[in-house]
Amino acid sequence: MISKTVLVTGGAGYIGTHTVLHLLLAGFKTVVVDNLDNSSHLAILRVKELAGEFRNNLSFHNADLRDRDALEQIFVSTKFDAVIHFAGLKAVGESVKKPLLYYNNNLTGTITLLEVMAAHGCKKLVFSSSATVYGWPKKVPCTEEFPLSAANPYGRSKLIIEEICRDVYNAEQDWKIILLRYFNPVGAHPSGYIGEDPRGVPNNLMPFVQQVAVERRPALTIFGNDYNTIDGTGVRDYIHVVDLADGHIAALLKLDESDIGCEVYNLGTGKGTSVLEMVKAFELASGKKIPLVMAGRRPGDAEIVYASTEKAERELNWKAKYGIDEMCRDQWNWASKNPYGYGSQKDSTD
Ligand code: NAD
Ligand code: UD1
Repeated sequence: MISKTVLVTGGAGYIGTHTVLHLLLAGFKTVVVDNLDNSSHLAILRVKELAGEFRNNLSFHNADLRDRDALEQIFVSTKFDAVIHFAGLKAVGESVKKPLLYYNNNLTGTITLLEVMAAHGCKKLVFSSSATVYGWPKKVPCTEEFPLSAANPYGRSKLIIEEICRDVYNAEQDWKIILLRYFNPVGAHPSGYIGEDPRGVPNNLMPFVQQVAVERRPALTIFGNDYNTIDGTGVRDYIHVVDLADGHIAALLKLDESDIGCEVYNLGTGKGTSVLEMVKAFELASGKKIPLVMAGRRPGDAEIVYASTEKAERELNWKAKYGIDEMCRDQWNWASKNPYGYGSQKDSTD
């Protein structure tokens, strides 16, 4: 059993909750810091329930990463072996309208975190980057060496943070940093007890599909059916959030075992699925018909994006286990048990 203590920023969020649960079950002591800007305290309580005998190894601080004093206090009270840094704003459309909000939150939050970590001698970090840094890739699968670009302030914040991490390591080589580029996380814990609960109108495909299935929204709008793909709709690499959570444990173990420097890994399945294929898989899993409305392409969308998984398989010894049928089954299990996420119909902003 592992007896290490990990700080998880943004641990009340979608990917954070699944990762925290896996950390607890693997024997890690876990401290979450989250300002609940896009999440609910109920999610933390549910993770505790799922963690059973390990529940007391989880503690939670409702704090903003930019609040240096609050962060200091957390580092004074606990010695951390490593930090997993999920906390950030992630809505692409909102980032275009409110760039300063995104730069302030994502960049200032990260810089404050790195400064406080350094001051307390904690120099092991796993950071949530995104496949969005590949932009519209010239070919697929995307390998970690591909040229990087950003189409919006959200994506640019990820690119800048990646660069900051490389600079920090170049300046002080006792840092160990893993940048994980997630492809498209979907699904939920098989218990149906935790899952994704975005505030407002979902930007991403599967949260939208799920809300159509529970009749919160009338139809799914398909953004473009004139791409050069199997059926004209965009192709992505969907990855089960449980596999993604496991990828973080693999990254933590890697930080321990090697002189890694600042290294980047894709977390995807290596398989491309079109929007229509995904909708069909969800209809099969849920028994629900998803009404569709065809529309034009969404600005900034790429045609086909999927991962090369070789580096993560080789160096992290990690490989995704689940396919789209399991992703849709678990997404539907969560949606049907929690049609309004962690809230109620009364609280919803629909
Ligand atoms: P999420 O919004 O569910 O979780 C992020 C959490 O961070 C939320 O609980 C939010 O309250 C918290 N947070 C935000 N700003 C904070 C701050 N300043 N201080 C403290 N807490 C703060 O998002 P998620 O889907 O779980 O994503 C986690 C990370 O992974 C994000 O950095 C996101 O950009 C990245 N990512 C997500 C996806 C995806 O599709 N979900 C894809 C690629 C990368
Ligand atoms: C989007 C973001 C990306 C971010 C990622 C994870 C854009 C341009 N890209 O990526 O920066 O890292 O989410 O948060 O916003 N689709 C529909 N109808 C919908 C929603 C989506 O047809 O209502 C289509 C999209 O056109 C795309 C596919 O579904 O082809 C997947 O979309 P989405 O889930 O938003 O992910 P990405 O586009 O990969």
